[in-house]
Amino acid sequence: MKLLTDKQKAAIDELLEKMTLEEKIGQMNQISPSIVGGFDVSFEELIEMMTDGRISKEEFGRLMAGAKQDFHDDVNRAGGLSSVLVSDPEVINSLQKIAVEQTRLGIPLIIGFDVIHGFRTVVPIALAEAGTFEPELFEKTGRIAAKESRASGIAWHFAPMLDISRDARWGRISEGPGEDPYLASVFAKARIRGLQNDDENPENYVAACLKHYVAYGACESGRDYNTTSMAKSMLHNTYLPPFKAAVEEGAATVMASFNDLNGVPCTVNNYTLRKILKEDYGFEGFVVSDANAIRECIIHGIAEDEQDAAVKAASAGMDMDMGTWIYSKELKSAVESGKLDITCIDEAVRRILGIKMRLGLFEKPYVTEEEMHRYDKLPEEHLAHALEVAEKSIVLLKNNDVLPLKKTAKISLTGALADMPEEVLGSWAISGRADDCVTILQGLKNAGADVSYHPCCGPEGEIDEAEVKAAVLDGDVIIAVVGEFASMSGEASSRADISLPGRQQELLKMLLDSKKPVIAVLMNGRPLALSWESEHVPAILECWHLGVQMGNAVANVLFGDVNPGGKLTCTFPAMTGQCPMYYNTPKTGRPASKSKFTSRYLDAPLEPVYPFGYGLSYTNFKYSDMDIQEEKDCLKVSVVLENTGDRDGSETVQLYMHDVSASIVRPVKEMKGFSKEYLKAGESRKVTITLSKDQMGFYDDDAIYHLEDGRFIIYIGGNSKECLKQEININF
Ligand code: GLC
Repeated sequence: MKLLTDKQKAAIDELLEKMTLEEKIGQMNQISPSIVGGFDVSFEELIEMMTDGRISKEEFGRLMAGAKQDFHDDVNRAGGLSSVLVSDPEVINSLQKIAVEQTRLGIPLIIGFDVIHGFRTVVPIALAEAGTFEPELFEKTGRIAAKESRASGIAWHFAPMLDISRDARWGRISEGPGEDPYLASVFAKARIRGLQNDDENPENYVAACLKHYVAYGACESGRDYNTTSMAKSMLHNTYLPPFKAAVEEGAATVMASFNDLNGVPCTVNNYTLRKILKEDYGFEGFVVSDANAIRECIIHGIAEDEQDAAVKAASAGMDMDMGTWIYSKELKSAVESGKLDITCIDEAVRRILGIKMRLGLFEKPYVTEEEMHRYDKLPEEHLAHALEVAEKSIVLLKNNDVLPLKKTAKISLTGALADMPEEVLGSWAISGRADDCVTILQGLKNAGADVSYHPCCGPEGEIDEAEVKAAVLDGDVIIAVVGEFASMSGEASSRADISLPGRQQELLKMLLDSKKPVIAVLMNGRPLALSWESEHVPAILECWHLGVQMGNAVANVLFGDVNPGGKLTCTFPAMTGQCPMYYNTPKTGRPASKSKFTSRYLDAPLEPVYPFGYGLSYTNFKYSDMDIQEEKDCLKVSVVLENTGDRDGSETVQLYMHDVSASIVRPVKEMKGFSKEYLKAGESRKVTITLSKDQMGFYDDDAIYHLEDGRFIIYIGGNSKECLKQEININF
């Protein structure tokens, strides 16, 4: 997205001069269509009735079939709408026509939608994609999603989601790049480059929206929307870095999060919105609330009523109201009564108009018939990208010489998830289409496998014992696809027990009783507690929700056409009770150990089942000859990496550091770099990663960044647990 030209800036000044107060406030209003008719209760009530089971999903669908969407054309015509959350291109054009041709000033709408991991070509959930450790892939995902959605008239993605998450109970861990601030920052920058690529042609880029700002992933007990509180040093060292990195990359918009942070909801938080984001980070785009969040400030107990909520939000730097209409209702009287200074309104409108101009919406507000249908059939290039990301997101967790399978293997495939197309899409894939999805069953067939399918059991419901018997009889090897429905992660999907849901573990036990080799293929949107599985199942592939090409990717890895190289972006605890569990934790004065009086549980192991950065390969890698060369501004950390196996493969070499003694305690390890290496069988290579000295500091509780002389331990290895290390003394 090009920066504003002087001419465009002048045009904005001119527009602001002309705009009435109502028209300015209209630019701060983002709506979703109201659902009307077809039933005699409100839409929200209908949703509740379905959620709590008073009506079935089928009944809900029938009632919705008779309903209409009200886009408030009259308000639009009066210049009262700025943005609409919608994805149908015909509808988008009709709404734009009203805004551009029937309002006094003809300011176009900015159409926003949740495009988190692909629009039509849905790729793996971000928690998986980040595990490829390939920023070029993160960027290309953004670029493809931008092109596909812009052809529908969507110019604004409510993405990337950048919430650091350390608690696997939280369902929204699936939407972001995991538990590490460094990896999340690399992911953030690459995704912004992809979405907003600096292109001449507006058909190729959209405005990104960094969410959820900020520390939403720190919700107490992993329960969605729950309270968050932390020291400012924690906020600046752990939760802000991906947002800071994305703002530096030019992110166009930011979405404030639902949670209260240290007592102040992020929707009305002056410190995070005005001080940090707009002043310290110099953010020039606009901030949008999360859905209904301004109204929820009354429920939080920070606002007396809707006008108080409106004034507090606008004063704090909240530029656009998503979904409540409160700005439309309350801001005019707030300004006229002197409760709100008009400068807040003008600043918000200037920011919003700036993004609309940079998107080229004034020049090209509509999409053509050709554009609308450009991606009805997914282009081969997009599908190839989805397949590549899916293959590289797969993490081999365990393999007792079971994998890869021979193409001639006689396979019994089990697990209901193996043949449920919509489940491969994962959370927040609203614009994905089941017809485009390749299931694991289909993927095996596409690979020419000799496979018989026996569902047996899913994440809910009973085990079909007859199917289990048939499965055990049929195949020489058994694949069990187990895990979570896509709806078990994502928003409002926290789980108080992160073990395999339903009776899937029992299914594994029944299959293992056959004494035939069993491979667990996991389909899940969060780390699972796999203590028993990790001990008893001879091979485990973490396959997440991999998007439209899931089946083909899983088959290619199972048969060894692709050697898995994905790494975990989050820690897998042994049991739920260990949550939150993450690698970059302070040491404490009594680090967990076998002795009693240390920071440990009586009834849980000391270590996670699988640590951050972990992932095996069909070959083996050896690390040796670590070396550190100190230069003026950086350390050159090198290691010799050797592929000692008989297969070519990839390995993500990871660099960590520990500040041994500082003015505040520092994590036992912090990732500061990585390098993904592809080596042929038998090949060895010296790998060097640069650690710039300005990365070796930390923020204190006054949000001041410190580089402190002293001892550091530098680690380099294939995951956050198994590393070579050297100590070094640094004087900055
Ligand atoms: C939801 C989510 C947010 C999403 C928005 C619009 O509540 O919190 O991630 O972008 O509403 O759908």
